[in-house]
Amino acid sequence: MRTPVIAGNWKMYKTVDQALDFMNALRERGEVSGVEQVVCASFVALPALAQATSGTGVGIGAQTMHWEEEGAYTGEVSPTMLQDIDVPYVIIGHSERRTYFAETDETVNKKTKSALDHDLTPIVCIGETLEEKEADRTQETVRDQVAKALDGRSSAEASRVILAYEPVWAIGTGKSATADDADEVIRFIRKTVADQLDHDVARDIRILYGGSVKPSNIDSFLERPDIDGALVGGASLDPNSFGQLVDAAA
Ligand code: G3P
Repeated sequence: MRTPVIAGNWKMYKTVDQALDFMNALRERGEVSGVEQVVCASFVALPALAQATSGTGVGIGAQTMHWEEEGAYTGEVSPTMLQDIDVPYVIIGHSERRTYFAETDETVNKKTKSALDHDLTPIVCIGETLEEKEADRTQETVRDQVAKALDGRSSAEASRVILAYEPVWAIGTGKSATADDADEVIRFIRKTVADQLDHDVARDIRILYGGSVKPSNIDSFLERPDIDGALVGGASLDPNSFGQLVDAAA
């Protein structure tokens, strides 16, 4: 049985005080069990959030990281730095990192390996662009991204990865994929994992949907047995909206 995940990707929003205000408001909703809830904040807010979330059942994550432990990589943050401030999750390969910051399938593979080597939980993003969708290349695209992200990982390692299928054309647009379409692609991704690794990993790996998820549509995704939760942008910024998503998955 896979534990559902609701992960918020705050992107470049929330100062430290705003992040702490979010946690105070979320805490007032009471503890929730049966769902893994994660907020992925900016680096500057993570130390304060690590302290504020301690004992609440809310996990925190970074939105990217370098694969090296240290070095001349101006502006980057290492896995050991995340471990040092008790950050257990890290988003890897988000389409915005791929688009604006030269993230590639090769760096996604290196970062996924490094996250697992440092006992972090990588949330690895995959998904087709509108151009690839319109060219009927969705399956080809996600198959290649999954294969390259998990290349070289053992079955035990791959089972610790959380995959997030985020069609690029649904991110930030308010227009999500239909639950049918998301379910079809996620089932294809799960089959790709079975073919590349084994059926036990395909059974155990969590695969989320991301792209304009909100409280009004979350149930349509969660009712699909192959969809294990959501990676949420805009709707995760408000504590009540995020809390509703978590309650729906509990
Ligand atoms: O990583 C999640 C994000 O890309 C989705 O954004 O605003 O469409 O929920 P949004």
